[in-house]
Amino acid sequence: MTHIPFVVAENAQEIAQTVAAEIAALIRERNAEGRSTVLGLATGNTPILLYRELVRLHREEGLDFSRVITFNLDEYYPMQPDSSQSYHYFMHHHLFDHVNVPASQIHIPDGFLSRDAIADFCAAYEQKIQQAGGLDFQLLGIGENGHIGFNEPGSARDSRTRLVRLDATTRRNAAGDFGGEDLVPREAISMGVATILEARRIVLIATGSKKATIMQKVLHSAASSDIPATFLQLHENATIYVDTAAHASLV
Ligand code: GLP
Repeated sequence: MTHIPFVVAENAQEIAQTVAAEIAALIRERNAEGRSTVLGLATGNTPILLYRELVRLHREEGLDFSRVITFNLDEYYPMQPDSSQSYHYFMHHHLFDHVNVPASQIHIPDGFLSRDAIADFCAAYEQKIQQAGGLDFQLLGIGENGHIGFNEPGSARDSRTRLVRLDATTRRNAAGDFGGEDLVPREAISMGVATILEARRIVLIATGSKKATIMQKVLHSAASSDIPATFLQLHENATIYVDTAAHASLV
C-alpha cells in the first residue's frame, strides 16, 4: 500500500467543502499574522466545486483573499489567454472574477509567448514562487494517465516548470473542449514534479468512476515517472481525497 494518506468521502461536494475549509483556515491564519498565503491552483472539472465553495466563503463569510498569491499549475501552448479553452479563462470564470485576489498576485503560465521566450519565462515562474516564499498549499487533480499538472508519464522527479508535450490520452480527453482531438494543442507549459513537491502541503482530489482505475494504480505502485502522481509518496504532507466512485475498484 501507499504511504499517501487518503480519505474516502461520500461525494464530490463533501470533498469540496472539506478542502475549501482547509484552505480557508490557512488563509485566515495567515491573514491574522499579516502574512500572505501562496496557493498552487489546478484546473479541470474536479476543482470546480471547490472553487464554488471558496467563492461562497468569500461572499457569505467574508473570507479575505487580499493577501493570497496564486500560481497555476499549467496552461496549454499555444493558447491565447482570452480563449474560452484557456486556463486563464477557466480560473477567472470559476474563481478570480468572484473573489478579491489582486490581479498582480495571480500567476498563470503564459501560453501566448514566442517559443524562444519560454525557457526564460519558466525560470522566472520558478523564481516568483520562491520570492513569494514557496507554495503553502498545492491543489492537484489527476489525469487518467496519472499526470499531475501536465506532468505526463515520463516526467522526472526533478522536473521544473517547462514546455511539455501532451500525451495522446490527455489530448483525447480534452477533445470535447476543443471540438476534436486534432484541435487540442500538442504542448503545454507546466510546473514540474519538483516544483509541486516543494509545496508545504499537497491535496490531490480524484472524483468520478473514470478515475478509479488510475487511482488504484497510484495507491498501489511505487513512486516512478510512469505514473507521476505516485511521486506524492515522497511528500510528507500530502493527502488524496477520493469519492466513492473513484474509490470503487480500490482494494
Ligand atoms: C488537465 C489538467 C490537470 C487536471 C486534469 C484532470 O489535464 N492539466 O491539472 O488534473 O486535466 O482534469 P479533470 O479534473 O477534468 O478530470
